[in-house]
Amino acid sequence: MKKFLVIGNPINHSLSPRLHNFWFKENNIKAIYESLKLNTNQLDQLIYDLKEKKINGVNVTVPFKKEIISYMDKLSEEASAVQSVNTISLEDNKVVGYNTDIVGFELSIKETKFDLKNKNIFILGAGGVVPSIIYSLNRMNVSQIFISNRTKMKAENLKRIDKNLTVLDWGEVPDFDMIINATSVGLNKNEKIDINFTKMKNKFFYDVIYNPKETNFLREGKKLGNKVLNGKMMFIYQASAAFNLWHKINPEINEKTIKLLD
Ligand code: ATR
Repeated sequence: MKKFLVIGNPINHSLSPRLHNFWFKENNIKAIYESLKLNTNQLDQLIYDLKEKKINGVNVTVPFKKEIISYMDKLSEEASAVQSVNTISLEDNKVVGYNTDIVGFELSIKETKFDLKNKNIFILGAGGVVPSIIYSLNRMNVSQIFISNRTKMKAENLKRIDKNLTVLDWGEVPDFDMIINATSVGLNKNEKIDINFTKMKNKFFYDVIYNPKETNFLREGKKLGNKVLNGKMMFIYQASAAFNLWHKINPEINEKTIKLLD
């Protein structure tokens, strides 16, 4: 039986196993998908197991998306551009790193019919997923991207991905159309981002977090009458793109799939 993994640390929160195992059943694929908490010193063994076909594919999450790159024989163009790998497959005995967060984010936006072309975007946070989001935003031809991170230097470093980024101080608010919470604040229920949102109206509030379903950021955005979206569809679309890379099947995404993650 084929075996697939999501690796990270911590990893117990990941809903990837639930989604992939559901799609295995739906598509009559004899395989199992599990989560595995790893330390850096175990990455070597993981790659060895992939090459030995003891493992047939791996999803990578925090904190390994960048670190894993040095173990890859080859990178997709997107993974290379953002220096972030979330999906690994073995092709002609080569370990190939892909990034499906980019397409995941993009499809989640396209579905809303909110046209990002020439819009101003304000990103909060500068963690692992942000390079992918920036790449995706640029592909959708946004106008300007503002970014602000509690640790400013980390936002400054993202200019390597996009030299046109405008880095703001934490707490500074630009003129924008869409605001994205890419911080981890909200993962624990009722945590609040220490930014004043009260003047933000007629905007699009997007939270990368999908569990809990409604962070304080989204709750506040909604209360002010803004359009809101959590990270659930991004998560589902990144998973379906990984599934397609491994199994050459586009899994169906319907109400049942979406409910699965509630
Ligand atoms: P990593 O930094 O390892 O990639 P992440 O979960 O992807 O982890 O990123 C966490 C993000 O949430 C970071 O941007 C972090 O800001 P710092 O770079 O200053 O650490 C941000 N974050 C976490 N707690 C925060 C808080 N209380 N207020 C504001 N930002 C916070």
